[in-house]
Amino acid sequence: MAGEKGTLPSLRQYWATQANELLHCSRRWEQVVRGDFTTTPTVEWLVNGELNAAVHCVDRHLTTGRRNKAALIWQGERDHEVRVYTYQMLFSEVCRLANVMKKKGIGRGDCVAIYLPMVPELVVTMLACARIGAPHTVVFSGFSAASLQSRLEDCRARMLITADGGLRAGRSIPLKPTADSALEEFAEVGSCLVVRRTDQKVEMVPGRDSWYHSELSAADISSDCEAESMAAGDPLFFLYTSGATGLPKQVRHGTGGYLLHALSSCRQVFRLEEDDIFWSTADLGWITGHTYSVYGPLGLGGTVLLHEGVPLYPGAARFWQVVEKFRVNKLYTAPAVIRALRRAEGALPPPAALSSLRLVASVGEPVDPGSAGWFAGLAGRPVPVIDTWCQTEAGGILFAPRTPDDPASSGTVGTPLPGIDAAVVDESGHLLPTGGCGRLLIRHPWPGMALQLQEEGEIGGVVTDGGYDTGDLARRDEENRYVILGRQADLINVAGQQLGTAEIEAALLAHPSIIEAAAVGIADTERGQAVYAFVTPRHDVPGTRRLLEELRSHLADKLGPAVLPVGLQCAPSLPKTKSGKIVRRLLRKIASGEDGGFGDLSALADPSVLAVLLAEKRRGETKIHLNL
Ligand code: WT7
Repeated sequence: MAGEKGTLPSLRQYWATQANELLHCSRRWEQVVRGDFTTTPTVEWLVNGELNAAVHCVDRHLTTGRRNKAALIWQGERDHEVRVYTYQMLFSEVCRLANVMKKKGIGRGDCVAIYLPMVPELVVTMLACARIGAPHTVVFSGFSAASLQSRLEDCRARMLITADGGLRAGRSIPLKPTADSALEEFAEVGSCLVVRRTDQKVEMVPGRDSWYHSELSAADISSDCEAESMAAGDPLFFLYTSGATGLPKQVRHGTGGYLLHALSSCRQVFRLEEDDIFWSTADLGWITGHTYSVYGPLGLGGTVLLHEGVPLYPGAARFWQVVEKFRVNKLYTAPAVIRALRRAEGALPPPAALSSLRLVASVGEPVDPGSAGWFAGLAGRPVPVIDTWCQTEAGGILFAPRTPDDPASSGTVGTPLPGIDAAVVDESGHLLPTGGCGRLLIRHPWPGMALQLQEEGEIGGVVTDGGYDTGDLARRDEENRYVILGRQADLINVAGQQLGTAEIEAALLAHPSIIEAAAVGIADTERGQAVYAFVTPRHDVPGTRRLLEELRSHLADKLGPAVLPVGLQCAPSLPKTKSGKIVRRLLRKIASGEDGGFGDLSALADPSVLAVLLAEKRRGETKIHLNL
């Protein structure tokens, strides 16, 4: 059926079966999904169903043999700091916190903001919110006071949960003072709970601030708390995505549909076994953290490994030690992590230390086939390394290989997961033949779709008659496998030929000295646009003209003439969002010779990168024109 519009009844039947298998509703739904993208202006999942996400992630496992199973294993940044929560322990702590929140006047529909480092209390807080029906918004602890404040305001948060500080790459970062500045400007947050992590001295505002652990151990706080029965369409959480533009946009996720997607995609892609240790390395502040460190694996009764701070600090050896120490079985990570591990090959453990690994999956950006292939050979026997496609608005994974026989090294993210109907279309929405490069569209509603995409007002925007436009460019092969070519906004149009960024970057990354690469389009009088590329060499390779010249001949072998960059520039690092995505919009400006007007840079992990790139461009020594 590749390319044909999947039949609605069969998709609905699929999701109804999944819902029957995976969801435990306090009130059974009457219809698995109402509406589609063409006939009705709104979509609703699990019509009239009621359930609670925290019950799925905790309570349900208490009546099974999993009661004393590790739900959460936390590895602190210091090696000796390890904490384990069994499902029973998680239940008590979630209930206690839920009761504290209720005591503070928080209930159904009140938004709770979470500004915590990667500590177990972060998971507890998310689940306590879910238990009482208070939507949570997790704000990545690397965000500034201004970013936190804008999020608090945007979702009208009533409570904030933060910590004195956090540990990140050996440094103690203050969080409470940052939270204080954000709260100064936004008085609607009536209470602030503070987790003690670093023992930094902090100011506590009387009447507003209190210590998390003291509140939880108060005599009037019970370790049982009835879960709210939530409507399937009630919001479970809000997240802010910076997408391709680097500007924050609120995404709201519901309870029933989202949970169904989290559970079913987690089961389908990771095939969790009862004794698996599952490590998803993404920060809980992103969708991957929500769906694949909390709601998916805990909902399935799995064991989640949570790692504080940067997994490669103080070096790559640390990452491997964690895998070995806990005998991690399934690993979910990002291409940048895989590349960083590859570049630090000296830190590699013997294959036996990695013998527990059964599956490695990547997400977030295209993973270059070379790095994926490298990882697959590390454990002394082949480990499947797959690529998966996920998006904040999508709620979870939509594409992954059906079997590990479609490894990431073949350049594909696999096929749409069962129940997902995807297509590649041209500018005017017409289906493209196999192999054509075009817009990646999801033609039927799927349960993890953000609430905004289900609502009337949004249909006609990103959702059209043809379906939901993901904003990505893709190509599909005869076996219905998809190759992601990059973002539509980053499309490069050379003499009418539409080029995604991914394939050009993969060619650059195939050179052994290059560890990061970004391609952008710049104006070209003859061809409309031409390719300009930025490359980061390995730390032990100097970024010289000689390297660039070598790269030029490397590229001439790999790419056709139209795709060959007209300019190449070394970049000690690339401008990335805090979630690690390259912001090509800024690189486009630099490549085109602009040196200002960069707009809002608050989403950038390190804005100082721009000045370095501008200086390098001006100096011209580590830049060449290819004069084609
Ligand atoms: C965008 C969504 C951090 C994980 C989730 C990111 C890109 C995602 C892949 C992949 C190529 C990918 C897409 C997508 N993306 N996975 N396997 N290959 N590109 O969520 O921040 O909302 O970003 O990430 O462009 O639209 P997000």
